[in-house]
Amino acid sequence: MKTQHTSDTREHYSRHFEGADRTNVDFEQLENIDTNYHFEPQVLSDYIAFSIVYIVRFLTRYIFSGRFVHHGVFLEACASIPGLVGGVLHYIFGASSPEEEKRIAALLEESENERTHLMLWAEVIKPSILETILIFFATVVYFVLYCASYLVSRNFCHRVVGYMEEEAVWYYTDFLQAIDRGVPEVLDIQVPKLAINYYKLNADATLRQVVLCVRGDEAHHRNSNHTLSGCILK
Ligand SMILES: [Fe+2]
Ligand SMILES: [Fe+2]
Repeated sequence: MKTQHTSDTREHYSRHFEGADRTNVDFEQLENIDTNYHFEPQVLSDYIAFSIVYIVRFLTRYIFSGRFVHHGVFLEACASIPGLVGGVLHYIFGASSPEEEKRIAALLEESENERTHLMLWAEVIKPSILETILIFFATVVYFVLYCASYLVSRNFCHRVVGYMEEEAVWYYTDFLQAIDRGVPEVLDIQVPKLAINYYKLNADATLRQVVLCVRGDEAHHRNSNHTLSGCILK
């Protein structure tokens, strides 16, 4: 699959803005996004990036086995950091050009989008004080590590995020399949009201429709980050 440019991502995110027309959410399109896309590692840094994500994937799937929303909160807890850090560092160090302006906006929008994913799943599980503290420390540690890494190699960081987004797409696909099979772990999960407002869904929207919308976002993050790593940031 050909990866898409960040301008496509901006068009996608524009659907989330206040006042955006979301009366025609194309669920058929969201059902048929390319969930199997995988960027084949080409250089040593790609292999390192993929290995890091593969280890995280193995551990989180083992730890959160079947606990879909808790797994989602973990994935989303740190997911808004890359866009935030990338946007700010491009703002500080980037050249003043229309292309750079688009890049900064797309990265900050990605961050806002990921933050919303965290908030909507947090609405469902209502994290305990201990879980909130763990999320706080995980976010701080990831923020510092990602900042330092981004100053060293933007290409590597966007490749890592691209692979993390591949994992996010696969995770939400598993979530959808669990809903379709009616497994006990997903039967009582409420539909987050924040998701209905954010995606401008009907009041009687289903959990499946919410997960489809979130997975669509993750596919755009995947494409834009692999594109940023491979095509733009030389
Ligand atoms: Fe997300
Ligand atoms: Fe994402």
